[in-house]
Amino acid sequence: MSTAAEETQFLAPAIRPEEDELERSLRPRNLDEFVGQERVKEQLAITLEAARGRKEALDHLLLIGPPGLGKTSLAYIVREELGVGLRTVAGPALERKGDVAAILTGLGERDVLFVDEIHRLSSAVEEILYPALEDYRLDIVVGQGPAARTLTLDLPPFTLIGATTRTGLLTTPLRDRFGMTFRLEHYEPDELALIVRRSARILGVEISGDASTEIAGRARGTPRIANRILRRVRDVAEVRHQGKITVEIAREALELMEVDGDGLERSDRALLRAIVEKFDGGPVGLSTLAVTLGEEPDTIEDVYEPYLLQLGFIQRTPRGRIVTKLGRAHVGAPGEADGDRLF
Ligand SMILES: Nc1ncnc2c1ncn2[C@@H]1O[C@H](COP(=O)(O)OP(=O)(O)OP(=O)(O)O)[C@@H](O)[C@H]1O
Ligand SMILES: [Mg+2]
Repeated sequence: MSTAAEETQFLAPAIRPEEDELERSLRPRNLDEFVGQERVKEQLAITLEAARGRKEALDHLLLIGPPGLGKTSLAYIVREELGVGLRTVAGPALERKGDVAAILTGLGERDVLFVDEIHRLSSAVEEILYPALEDYRLDIVVGQGPAARTLTLDLPPFTLIGATTRTGLLTTPLRDRFGMTFRLEHYEPDELALIVRRSARILGVEISGDASTEIAGRARGTPRIANRILRRVRDVAEVRHQGKITVEIAREALELMEVDGDGLERSDRALLRAIVEKFDGGPVGLSTLAVTLGEEPDTIEDVYEPYLLQLGFIQRTPRGRIVTKLGRAHVGAPGEADGDRLF
């Protein structure tokens, strides 16, 4: 029996090293290779060109969106398009002011500092960032009490790219310091099919058009998931068949992975069922739900819920999560009483 933790591996950000390697090789390297998000790309292309023309640092950039939609990829692309250096850190890793000071003073002219999970910065770290972002200035307090003095260090102009899965968690002063904010949306099936075909080419595996459409339709609007499904489908094609991916093989692999027609996995269905069966359809609070499923509340909010919300299978209400009629129908649960039955 697999545990809940194992199941989330499929969706969660790359955990295993070989997955990391795969993500790197499939990552789009420039704006042309980056599929979809046309509005974002258009705006970004203009500011990139303007910044290049003026030989200035690009405005600070905030990228918001559920996991696997391309935030890290975009940050790398910006660096590539600007031809500058890149420093990557995870928000929670920046614990002390000194860590930030060391990183900021190490940046070169117009470099990009990419801070992933930027909603998880400590308030001390945020405070030291404010003047750095606004005036490329670092204020360091040395000494204590009456002898304390503030040293000001000039920093090279740089670009902060922040990535976050949720806006709600970012403080207003920090959010206000970004010149541009882009919200990444789930991808359309035809965009995902394009991504699947490109990835198959890079992986050197042949795939039919309808097979890439099939995979795209079950990837929950998420390129990372499309790529991971592709990888597993490739395994099935190689081990059980002749290597070329046909739509039948794609379906066979998806069934093996227990990914249903809407792209939901066992863990998504478990979430719907838990609300229906244990909480009478809801509302149920996030933390209670998390305990019931043996998951972290963050994983539920970041990984499972965005797509279930988009499908209209669940709703967030002030009193907690509820499963909708559509959601009930998906897990084969009867609708509400009072003549509202689906069967
Ligand atoms: N627009 C795109 N075009 C082509 N491939 C993409 C696109 N967006 C994402 N991908 C693929 O999906 C993978 C995951 O994307 P990425 O790491 O950029 O997501 P993320 O938003 O940073 O996720 P997380 O929140 O988990 O860090 C990439 O390695 C890349 O292969
Ligand atoms: Mg990322």
